[in-house]
Amino acid sequence: MEKIIMYPGENKKEAVDWKDIQAQYITNVERNVLVLGSGGREHALAWKIAQSERVSKVYIAPGNAGTASVGVNLSINIADFQAVKDIVLRNRIDLVVVGPEQPLVDGIVDFFKNDAELKDVKIIGPDKKGAQLEGSKAFAKDFMEKYGIPTAKCFTVTAENLLEGFDYLERLEPPYVLKADGLAAGKGVLILNELAEAKSELKEMLSGKFGSASAKVVIEQFLKGIEVSMFVLTDGENYVILPEAKDYKRIGDGDTGLNTGGMGAVSPVPFVTPDFIAKVENRIIKPTIEGLKKEKIDYKGFIFLGLMNCGGDPYVIEYNVRMGDPETEGVMTRIDSDFAVLLDKCAQGKLNEAHYQVSPETSVTVMLVSGGYPESYKKGMKITGLDDVCPCCIVAHAGTKFDGNDIVTSGGRVIAVTAHGKNIEEAREKAYHSAKMIKFDGKNFRHDIGLDLMNYNA
Ligand code: AMP
Ligand code: GLY
Repeated sequence: MEKIIMYPGENKKEAVDWKDIQAQYITNVERNVLVLGSGGREHALAWKIAQSERVSKVYIAPGNAGTASVGVNLSINIADFQAVKDIVLRNRIDLVVVGPEQPLVDGIVDFFKNDAELKDVKIIGPDKKGAQLEGSKAFAKDFMEKYGIPTAKCFTVTAENLLEGFDYLERLEPPYVLKADGLAAGKGVLILNELAEAKSELKEMLSGKFGSASAKVVIEQFLKGIEVSMFVLTDGENYVILPEAKDYKRIGDGDTGLNTGGMGAVSPVPFVTPDFIAKVENRIIKPTIEGLKKEKIDYKGFIFLGLMNCGGDPYVIEYNVRMGDPETEGVMTRIDSDFAVLLDKCAQGKLNEAHYQVSPETSVTVMLVSGGYPESYKKGMKITGLDDVCPCCIVAHAGTKFDGNDIVTSGGRVIAVTAHGKNIEEAREKAYHSAKMIKFDGKNFRHDIGLDLMNYNA
């Protein structure tokens, strides 16, 4: 296993030689790249990939109004793998990057590998079994237990052993964490303070509160600490640690209100020190990749580690098999090297040949959302002011579409604005300045992205 070393600010000298190094390695890098998905994550990925001199054309399926400015949108349903195949063949796609988890959990990588016409098309993402790391919490917990990866203690319950579930809850201290085993659109985790409530929610979950996703429920010990998202790109043997980010999940300032998909991000995260990274590598990343190999999982893609920093020790809260959103919006802007080349090498199992360079600057991402989100909200609101945004900021569209010549809202999370600075304060100032320029009816955003981390800079 080889780690491609790169921490922010290092390798300045090597960076000078980067173009030469690249030229030596790359003989047949992608010409056409397809990004699957339609959110801010996919816009950020497509934006970064489109910067590669080696890429002729970027396609995004289905994309949004923003992705149309960095590539060509192809309007298909990505759950329909035959439709994906058609656009891959028609557009002579060399590399496919799968943005969201659902197609991976549904086996899109296996579909490619088993298809005579697609088997040589490079694809970023794990196979169906590997995608179970995100697709089944029980699978992920068993995997972590088997390979000695630090995580919260847990017990898995089905309708058959509900009473054992109650017993387990009685032995835990509050708060109680209940997780639907399967994908539940980010809503399948409940954290409850009262034992009686936890028992009744457990019963409801098993009776279909989240459909078949909660036919199995994982009860977990509550972990106290600060969360951080770390991202690894692996070819199943070698790995690169991408920039980490802190996500802000609650809708309201000061971490109040309902959970959302993510209201903003900061990268790097001050408490993610070289010492912390070393612990993550030794206790989590290396055993995870060893485990994938032992389980014969074909994994050429992203591993998103949702971690809890408990007094300096990292614990895995969850694995995701994709990049995070909005973390990607702030992470892509910090990658200085050619990301398409990195992905190409990864898909070929040659990540050890790639060169990787990260900006030491800080990125702050502010998500503009529709009024009412994460509950019900209106769509179709006209968006103005996009041209007034400072060119120093990167605007990733999350939920937008064209309506004639107008760009209108089409989702809860609408636009992510990212700015860089020498520290959080500077990046915040720029990001918020531009966030205020963009206007649509009902616009809402958090005002405190990164504020909690500014003390760490002292
Ligand atoms: P997940 O979907 O597993 O990321 O869980 C959603 C959120 O619930 C996480 O981002 C954490 O904030 C919280 N959470 C999940 N598991 C735990 C745990 N064991 N202890 C404390 N908080 C948790
Ligand atoms: N921002 C968290 C996620 O993408 O799951």
